[in-house]
Amino acid sequence: MTGTGIRLSRLSKSFRSPEGPVHAVRAIDVSIERGEAVALLGPNGAGKSTTIDMLLGLQPPDSGDVSLFGHTPREAVHRGLVGAMLQTGSLIQYLSVRELLKMMASVYPSPLGVEAVLSQTGLEAIAARRTQKLSGGETQRVRFALALLSDPDLLVLDEPTVAMDVEARHEFWNSMRAFAARGKTVVFATHYLEEADQNADRVVLMAHGRVVADGPPTEIKARVGSRTIRATLPDADPGELAALAGVARAERRGEAVVLSCADSDQAIRALLERYPAARDIEIAGAGLEDAFLALTADPDTDTDADAPPPALAP
Ligand SMILES: Nc1ncnc2c1ncn2[C@@H]1O[C@H](COP(=O)(O)OP(=O)(O)OP(=O)(O)O)[C@@H](O)[C@H]1O
Ligand SMILES: [Mg+2]
Repeated sequence: MTGTGIRLSRLSKSFRSPEGPVHAVRAIDVSIERGEAVALLGPNGAGKSTTIDMLLGLQPPDSGDVSLFGHTPREAVHRGLVGAMLQTGSLIQYLSVRELLKMMASVYPSPLGVEAVLSQTGLEAIAARRTQKLSGGETQRVRFALALLSDPDLLVLDEPTVAMDVEARHEFWNSMRAFAARGKTVVFATHYLEEADQNADRVVLMAHGRVVADGPPTEIKARVGSRTIRATLPDADPGELAALAGVARAERRGEAVVLSCADSDQAIRALLERYPAARDIEIAGAGLEDAFLALTADPDTDTDADAPPPALAP
């Protein structure tokens, strides 16, 4: 069933710059099944937007291939199968929000109703407002409404919640999840690790144009394997704590100590055996933020940052 999902195969893209070529995307392979919600996560310049541009057919790849439900990006967009919300681009001015949505709806084969989309994206209250008067966060919501309008099978969102306040973010992800719950496919780029964790079934972590990890958020965390133990323990020496079985690193924070563990089960036993006075003990799983830092700081990924992508090597 290779035609049913999204396939990025050996996809590469380089740009010229005054400092020499920038290998923005290096022969990445990503397969996304219908109905998956996938976060593209990575630091600035990782290649997320370049990947999204190629996925949407806005940039031709140097090499490699994109298939969206068995179509080329151009065909898929033409059929109204794809809705996108990009990092750049302004709204058409001098129209109200409602007029803009009506106008755009008229170009799609089977759009959702404009009023339904206005209510789904919380835009009813500002539907009569001119687009050039909108705040940054409101503009983002209108972009989201435009992306939903064709009732696409695939929604592609490049850092969708930039400029949104906490409440707008919350509502935005609720609408996104409602969309995904209808069996739709969602790909979004984000810097917000919490958002990837909470809203994606799967995280594709990019750094230096490569995919450095790909899996469910829990698996990415497990790859780094660390949990932390926090305990109140005023008199213990961090050097001795770090030497306990299962502990990788120990740090003092006032009266408390924080232990980063390779094996937290082993560490908690060793801690209590050696320091029975330890109290207020908390064990926490590593956040995606820790996984992200550990994986993108991998020296192997850094040292060959300027090497040509494998697909282009002779
Ligand atoms: N048109 C272009 N010309 C030259 N270099 C480019 C161009 N577009 C992107 N790049 C470079 O390619 C690399 C990847 O950029 P890209 O925008 O894909 O990163 P990103 O992961 O989306 O980053 P951000 O999180 O900052 O949005 C960067 O080093 C960027 O400077
Ligand atoms: Mg980007």
